[in-house]
Amino acid sequence: MRIGILTGGGDCPGLNAVIRAVVRKGVDTYTHQVFGFRGGWLGVLNAETEQLTTEKTRGILHRGGTILGTSRTDPMSEPDGVERIKECLDIHRLDGIIVCGGNGTLSAASDLHYKHGVPIIGVPKTIDNDIAATDYTFGFLTAVQVATEAIDRLHSTAESHSRVMVVEVMGRNAGWIAVYAGLAGGADEILIPEKPFDIEEVCKHLRHRYGTGKTFSIVVVAEGAVPVEGTLDVPSYPKDPFGRDRLGGIGNIVAMEIEKRIGLEVRVTILGHVQRGGTPIPADRVLASRFGTMAIDLAHRGEWGTMTALRSSRIEAVPLREAVAEPKLVDDELYEVASVFFG
Ligand code: F6P
Repeated sequence: MRIGILTGGGDCPGLNAVIRAVVRKGVDTYTHQVFGFRGGWLGVLNAETEQLTTEKTRGILHRGGTILGTSRTDPMSEPDGVERIKECLDIHRLDGIIVCGGNGTLSAASDLHYKHGVPIIGVPKTIDNDIAATDYTFGFLTAVQVATEAIDRLHSTAESHSRVMVVEVMGRNAGWIAVYAGLAGGADEILIPEKPFDIEEVCKHLRHRYGTGKTFSIVVVAEGAVPVEGTLDVPSYPKDPFGRDRLGGIGNIVAMEIEKRIGLEVRVTILGHVQRGGTPIPADRVLASRFGTMAIDLAHRGEWGTMTALRSSRIEAVPLREAVAEPKLVDDELYEVASVFFG
């Protein structure tokens, strides 16, 4: 068989582990040929591939990013996108494509498969952990590790200076990183997109905390956090070239309000892309390797239109459409656990 592979959307630690696993099992076990596309769907639209060999994918397991490069190109928004993708498969005589992506990349994959018959296997990746049908996406726990380490470090300086530290983490539609890192790091308040916040309530918690003798606080804010309508003005975000809000900065607004309303000294740390870069932690290397070997097994068996998923410690194949039906949001139970420690 001849199998293509691409990595699309925002990069995340563990992508190289997937590529390595697909190539190693595909070539060594099944004697298939594996071809990489550069720059996500853009590489498929341009019909440019490079053959991936065991040699070429050696020494990449621990490396962050993706050796294939990535982009947010959406083939479904190109007027002749579907035709070009089908042509690419014909030109390179590919039996199908393994697509490693987040919600955007996998939605395109799902449409291409179900509406246009393109043979695709999905592999879920994103530090945001917001893909349904899988317990975790790889990259997420590495991002949590980075954010937790940052919170731990901020704790000591917050305490020395008796300050409020606002830490902004990634999380566009879902606050998984904020809740996990906040809970692990002992945050005194966690603001996430799923729970619009009332800044006065936040200040009430902090006042209560200071009333009990505490002298510093840690407030974790997901970049996609929003105030309850009508409670606080947040300027609209600039758009990126793909029409998405370029998030970042809600932490500054929260900090300014806390300072204004309580009169405490506040500092802000926006972690940004540092959460997406660098080496994957072991758990993500293992998950990505399991997804990669499962993806090539599925391609080998011709089980197109499926996505690899972690379910209660087992790796399973789920229909691609299940994965993209709706984003996986932070559940109330988890947020309630985190909120026990607020204030
Ligand atoms: O990949 C998901 C994500 O990390 C989001 O949390 C964040 O909003 C977005 O990517 C940032 O994207 P970009 O790297 O294109 O600015």
